[in-house]
Amino acid sequence: MLRPKLIVLAVLVCVGLWLSWGMAIAAHSLEDQGTIPPAHHCALVRWLRLGGGPTLASLARGQDLYVGTAVNLKALERDRQYRRRLAQEFNLVTAENDMKLERLQPRRNQFDFSQADRLLAFAADHQMAVRGHTLLWHRAVPDWLEQQDWSRAELMAILENHIKTVVGRYRGQIAAWDVVNEAIADDSTLRDTFWLRGIGPDYIEMAFRWAHEADPDALLMYNDYGGEGLNAKSDAIYELVQSLRSRDVPIHGVGLQMHVQANAAPSSQEVAANMARLADLGLQAQITEMDVRIRQPSTPGDADQQADIYRAMLQTCLEAENCNTFVTWGFSDRYSWVPGYFEGWGEALIFDQDYRAKPAYHSLLNLLADYSTSDANQNGAD
Ligand code: G3I
Repeated sequence: MLRPKLIVLAVLVCVGLWLSWGMAIAAHSLEDQGTIPPAHHCALVRWLRLGGGPTLASLARGQDLYVGTAVNLKALERDRQYRRRLAQEFNLVTAENDMKLERLQPRRNQFDFSQADRLLAFAADHQMAVRGHTLLWHRAVPDWLEQQDWSRAELMAILENHIKTVVGRYRGQIAAWDVVNEAIADDSTLRDTFWLRGIGPDYIEMAFRWAHEADPDALLMYNDYGGEGLNAKSDAIYELVQSLRSRDVPIHGVGLQMHVQANAAPSSQEVAANMARLADLGLQAQITEMDVRIRQPSTPGDADQQADIYRAMLQTCLEAENCNTFVTWGFSDRYSWVPGYFEGWGEALIFDQDYRAKPAYHSLLNLLADYSTSDANQNGAD
């Protein structure tokens, strides 16, 4: 009597496994074609991925952490492996280029939101947050703006219109705006840009005030590179934001870009001290554009050194009271800006050209897993 029941049970189990496997393949294939209705897509794919192991995003959730990356929209739309990794591993995106002024306002007062909208739609479909990058920069500016002599009033009107139009359009949808990007030069003085020449140093304050008017609830950041640790540039950034705070300018945080070299990264202690002094001003600190470039050709050991730096910076963020966002500037070496900009350097990201996870990825994943385990132990002990 027992035997036929066992056989039926075994057959049912096999059919169940076979169906799950088939559905998983079908779901991934639909996902690749973009044909699963977005709202159902995540739950279905996540359910079918049960047992697929943790990801950065799944572990970040337990730490109230945004783990994000800059997105290359062309790659997102053409490369299904890119899409899949992005959706699995990150809970925040930022546009590598598609929300810069030259893309959003290619002609005066003619806005083109099509690319940014597509990125925001992807983010919404995948329950990801979005950082807005960037409202005011001296690069990625269209010719119509840069190559004309504007009066101060004209330039102010252009800037106000740009900021209010963009921030107003995405009101309530952006986790943090990089309002002003890279306004301090490498010699730690205010960078000599057409904004500074045309408007004067007040342009920074104006930008924050206009952004705040357009979305009073938005988190507004100053974002820069080279001022992650303690040095003349981070001192200059500190003084700038301190002065803005003292005048009640609506600024809420500083983005530490963190484009660093594997053989010369700032120490955790310095970055922690820098974050702490910003916290004392009541400001958030976020790691906004991290990559760790390696001198080419790489040698054995470089990837581990790089992994240690990624891990140290994520840990510094997790330990800081005012850091809840860790963003890499891309995630696959296939699309990194580094080799095109720094000759003789590369391999700066956490996945290689073929989307294989590098030691840097594992170092981040393991760190987040350690934090989850220690939280679980803590809760068990309570
Ligand atoms: O899309 C156009 C294409 O249509 C055109 O044919 C081609 C010709 O050069 O240019 C393409 O645009 C390029 C764009 O990247 C997209 O690939 C621009 O030339 C190129 O200048 C641009 O570089 C970007 C750079 O900012 C300047 O905007 C990099 O991808 C991007 O990684 C980099 O990001 C910056 C952050 O915004 C601020 N912090 C530093 C970081 C690294 O430089």
